[in-house]
Amino acid sequence: MCGIVGYVGHQAAGPILIEGLQRLEYRGYDSSGIAVIDRDGVLDVMKREGKLRDLQAAITRMPNGGTGIGHTRWATHGQPSDRNAHPHASSSGDVIVVQNGIVENYRELRAELQERLDAEGRTWQSETDTEVIPELISREISAGKPLEDAIAYAIGRLRGANAIAVVHRGSPDRMYAARKGSAGGIVIGYGDGEMFLASDLPALLPHTTSVYHLEDGDIAAIDADLVQVRRGGSPTFQPTPTQVDLDPVAIARGPYRHFMLKEIHEQPRALSDTIRGRARLDPASALADDFDLADDTLRGIERVLVIGMGTSLHAAMIGRWWIEQIAGIPADFENASEFRFRAPLLGPSTLVVAVTQSGETIDTLGAMNHVRERWGAPQLVITNVDGSEATRQADASIIIRCGPEVGVASTKTFVGSLAALYLLACRIGHARGQLNEQELTDRLEQLLTAPSLLERGIRQAERCAEIAQVFGGASNFLVLGRGIEYPLAMEAALKCKEISYVHAEGYAAGEMKHGPIALLDQGFPVIALAPRGPLFDKMTSAIQQVRARRAPVIAVGDEGDQELAGLVDHFIGVPPAPPLLTPFSLTPVVQLLAYQLALTRGLDIDQPRNLAKTVTVE
Ligand code: M6R
Repeated sequence: MCGIVGYVGHQAAGPILIEGLQRLEYRGYDSSGIAVIDRDGVLDVMKREGKLRDLQAAITRMPNGGTGIGHTRWATHGQPSDRNAHPHASSSGDVIVVQNGIVENYRELRAELQERLDAEGRTWQSETDTEVIPELISREISAGKPLEDAIAYAIGRLRGANAIAVVHRGSPDRMYAARKGSAGGIVIGYGDGEMFLASDLPALLPHTTSVYHLEDGDIAAIDADLVQVRRGGSPTFQPTPTQVDLDPVAIARGPYRHFMLKEIHEQPRALSDTIRGRARLDPASALADDFDLADDTLRGIERVLVIGMGTSLHAAMIGRWWIEQIAGIPADFENASEFRFRAPLLGPSTLVVAVTQSGETIDTLGAMNHVRERWGAPQLVITNVDGSEATRQADASIIIRCGPEVGVASTKTFVGSLAALYLLACRIGHARGQLNEQELTDRLEQLLTAPSLLERGIRQAERCAEIAQVFGGASNFLVLGRGIEYPLAMEAALKCKEISYVHAEGYAAGEMKHGPIALLDQGFPVIALAPRGPLFDKMTSAIQQVRARRAPVIAVGDEGDQELAGLVDHFIGVPPAPPLLTPFSLTPVVQLLAYQLALTRGLDIDQPRNLAKTVTVE
C-alpha cells in the first residue's frame, strides 16, 4: 500500500527521500514521486509511473533543497500514471501533499472547489482523490488562514482515513504531517538537527531509533530541531519521542535471494521468540505475563470469534480448531471484511480475537470498530506491530515477536500468529478448568517442539524445488486438506496465487467430489496435505478419487510413509507431528512450493504485482 517519507534538515533531502522510498518498496506500489523545496522556496516535484528506478532515471538533476516529502502510490482512484503519482500540488503550485488512505468524499469536494479552478482558468491535474487536499489548503490560505489552520481545516473536511504530509513554498524549512483515522501509521524520526518522516519504521531505522507515532487527529509541524503537535482544541505540545529496538540489520536480506525465503527460514526463531516466557513448565503456565485478560474475564467467556484477512484469516481458522479442542469452548472464525457488515449476535461474553500481522489492515480494524460500537465485547489482537492501530483499539494484545517482515507474502508472521493462538487456547482452557496441570504441561511441551518441526519442514526446500521444476508450467492447482490441514490447503493456494500468479484453489478434501473434481485431468495437478492423523484414511480416499481422474498428485505426508508415497506421483516427507501440531510441520513446505513455483516463473517474489504488504484501503 502507499508509503510516505519526509525529511527536513541540513542534508539534501532528495537522496534521503529516495532511499527511504526504497525501504518502503516492500509495501507494493505502482508509481512514486518526491517534492523538494530549498531555502528560497524553489520547489521541484518529480514523479513517475513504475518502479523507483524509473523515477531515479527521470531525475536528471537532483535538487539540493533540505526539505521534502516522497510517496510510493498504490492506485485506488485513477490508473497508475505519471500524473496520478504523488506528490500532488494545489493549482497555485504552492501547496504540495502526499496521502495514504482514501478521501471518500472527494467527488463532493471536487465539485465545491471546481468554481475556484474555473475562475482561475485551471483544471485538475490528476484523477486522484488526493488532489483535493492541496487545493483545499491553498484555498484557505488565500482566504487569509495561517498554513497550520488551513491544514487542520482541510483534514476536518475529509471523510475517510488519511495520513498526509505537506510542504508549502512559503515555509521552506518545515514539513507537516497529519493523521486522521487509521490509514496506516505515520512516524516522525528524531535526528540530530534533522527530522525524518515515514509511514513505516523501516524507512527511518537507518537514521534514527528515536520516534514519535502520530495519533489519530494529530497535526505535526516538523522543523529540523523541533516537533510541535496539535491535537483537537488542546494547546500545542512537543511530543516525547520513544526508542524503538528494531535492528536495521534484521531488515536486510542477508544471503537469501528473496526476503520471502529469508523469512521462511526465520520461522523457527520467530516461533521460539514468540513463545519465550509464555509457555512455561514446572509449574505449567501459558501467557502468564504481559497478558491483559484476567482469568475471571476468561472464565466469563462463552464463545470465541477469531477474525482476520488473507493469511491471518487462515491462522484464525486454525486457531478456531485449537480453541475448540484445547479450551473446550465454542469458537468460530470469520473474514473481517464480511463480518463488519453483518449484524451477528454477539454479546459481552463473546471474546473477539483479531489476527493481523500489521495491525493496520482496514477491514480488520473496521470489524474491531464494529464490535466495539455495537456490542462492546472484549477484544484481543494478535499482531507483530506493537503500537499499531489494532493494539490501540483492542482491550488486550499478544505481540508476536517475528521481527520485521519485508516480503509482501506473510510467512513468519503466520507461524507467529499460530503460536499466539495456541497459547491463547491453552490459557483459556486452563483458566476455565478444561485443562488440568498435566494436560496443560502436555500441550505446552508439544508447542515447544514446534520450532524443530518448522526447521525440519524447511529442510524440504530442495525437494520442493524439484517438484516446482516439474510443475512450473501448470496453470492450475487444487490443494486438498482435511480437518486442521484444510486452512493450510487454503493458505497454500493463497501463496500460489499471490507470488506465483498461478490459479490455485484450497479445498476441504471431502468437498472435492461435490464439484471441483469435474476440473481434474492429466494437466491439473493436485497437492494433498496428508499427514498421519484421524482423517488420514479419508484423505487417501480423496487421493484415490483424484488418481482415478489421472490428475498428478503431490502428497505432503509423514517422513517414511511408504504407503502414501506409493500411492502418489510425488511425495514430500515432513516430520510426524501430534495431530494438532501439523500446521507447524506442513507450513514451510506449503510456502516453499509456492516460492519455488514463482522462482521457476522468474517473478518478483517480494513485491508481487497488485499487492501491498499492509492493506489500508477498502
Ligand atoms: O496485516 P494483516 O495480517 O492484517 O494482513 C492481512 C492480509 O492482507 C495478508 O495476510 C495478505 O493476505 C498477505 N499478502 C498474505 O501473504
